[in-house]
Amino acid sequence: MLELRHINKYFKRGDDEQHVLKDISLTINDGEFVSIMGHSGSGKSTLLNIIGLLDREFSGDYVLNGLDTHELSKKKFTKFRNENVGWVFQNFKLIQNMTIADNVGLPLRYQGKSNKEIKQTVDRVLDEVGILDKADAFPKLLSGGQQQRVAIARAIVTSPNIVIADEPTGALDSSTTIEIMNVFKQLNAQGTTLIIVTHDASVGEQAHRMIKILDGQVMGADYEI
Ligand SMILES: Nc1ncnc2c1ncn2[C@@H]1O[C@H](COP(=O)(O)OP(=O)(O)O)[C@@H](O)[C@H]1O
Ligand SMILES: [Mg+2]
Repeated sequence: MLELRHINKYFKRGDDEQHVLKDISLTINDGEFVSIMGHSGSGKSTLLNIIGLLDREFSGDYVLNGLDTHELSKKKFTKFRNENVGWVFQNFKLIQNMTIADNVGLPLRYQGKSNKEIKQTVDRVLDEVGILDKADAFPKLLSGGQQQRVAIARAIVTSPNIVIADEPTGALDSSTTIEIMNVFKQLNAQGTTLIIVTHDASVGEQAHRMIKILDGQVMGADYEI
C-alpha cells in the first residue's frame, strides 16, 4: 500500500516559487490499477516522480509498504526504488547501442545477478510481453509498440510490486495503444499495482480508479470506474 499525506511541492521560478503540488493526500492499495489524468502542466509528472521514488524533495509524508520514505538514506532510497518500482516512460528510454536482451537485463546486472540468472529472467519477461524473438535486435529496428514492450519488460524484470508509467501511450497510434494497454492489464491481473498518467481518456478509463489533477490539486473524490 502507498500513502501520500499532505504532499506539497514547489519549484523555483526566478525569484518566485511555483506551488506545483498542493496538499495532495491519497492512498493506493496493492493490486489497484489507477490512472492519473489532468491537463498539461497540472503536475501529473511531478506527482508521479514522487510516487515512483525518483524525487524525494517534497514536504509531507510518503509511506510505501509501511516505510516512511523520508527515513531512508539516499543510497537506501535508490535501492528501495529499484526493488519496489518499475518505470515506463513515453519515449521508451532504451539504450540504443545495446541489444533488447541487454537493455532488459540491465536492472538485474545492477543488482549483481549472474549471467545465467539474467538470461533466464530476461527470456521469461520478453516472452511475457510477446517479443522474445527480438532479444538480439537493437532498439532502432523495432516499432514504437515493440520498443514500449521492451520498456515494460525492463520495468518488470526485477519483479517490482508497482509499475508506474508516465504517458506510456503518448507516442503510439491508437491500435498500438490498445495492444500496450492489454500488456499492462495482463500485468495488473497478475497482481502488480499499476499507476498510469495519461491525458488520453480512452486509456484513463481502463483503470479501476481515476484520479483527476487540476492545477496541482486532486479534484473532488476519486472516480470509481
Ligand atoms: N524540474 C522542474 N523545474 C521547474 N519547474 C518544473 C519542473 N518540472 C515541472 N515544472 C513545472 O511544474 C508544473 C507541472 O509540471 P508537470 O508535473 O510536468 O505537469 P504535467 O505532467 O501534468 O504536464 C509546470 O508548470 C512545469 O513547468
Ligand atoms: Mg507530464
